Amino acid sequence: MLEGAQLALIPGDPERCSAIAALFGDYRELAFHREFRSILAESGKEKALVVSSGIGGPSLAVAMEELARLGIRCFLRVGTCGAIAPDLNPADLVISEGAVRLDGTSQHFAPLPYPACADTELTHLIVRACRELGFPYRKGITCSSATFYPGQERYDTFTGYVIRDFQGSLEEWKKLGVLNYEMETATLFTVARTFGLRAGALCAVLVNRLASEEPDHISLREAENRVNRTAVYTAGLALRELAL
Ligand code: URA
Repeated sequence: MLEGAQLALIPGDPERCSAIAALFGDYRELAFHREFRSILAESGKEKALVVSSGIGGPSLAVAMEELARLGIRCFLRVGTCGAIAPDLNPADLVISEGAVRLDGTSQHFAPLPYPACADTELTHLIVRACRELGFPYRKGITCSSATFYPGQERYDTFTGYVIRDFQGSLEEWKKLGVLNYEMETATLFTVARTFGLRAGALCAVLVNRLASEEPDHISLREAENRVNRTAVYTAGLALRELAL
């Protein structure tokens, strides 16, 4: 069914799958069920799968389980995030070397002391892709939260209340050098490691939480353009250099 594809690019949003797949050249949709849309993309002899995970760890873990059984050996997240490092701007890229495991889902695969870390070789290729394409990036630690609002300490909500466990958490993660918030990377890294497979994560910054909660539309488009192009460039490098 996957025609030997061993690498999957994984955005959250099904609507982003075709834009990513189109950058390879040829592509065709294989299936679209609930949040999971899968497209087989090809460039010459190189093949990759583009599959949306939906939002958060639970649906991502379902996708990874089923993709691993179908022969996927390398997962590359193509995501978006909110930055909490002062020097990150909208549309900059963040490469995750490791993730804080506030995702919840990863604890169903390994106990909390187990680290959520990226595959080093794949991460080097993401860095190379950013450099060669000339896109600004930082690499470091990401905080993966099970929720968009309380776990990322957002107060612009229905109740305006954040439980005490998360009050002050944004400032603390910032002081500890965490770069960004999103909702999938800790699951991705933990599941991939426990399966003995490779995973890397690249996210475009939609907002810097220290400055604003509202993304502007120009940065949004540029963020998607940069993250998609960098991910497809990385996939090409990975297919050639990691023997996938
Ligand atoms: N995704 C998140 O989880 N948080 C953000 O701030 C932006 C995207």
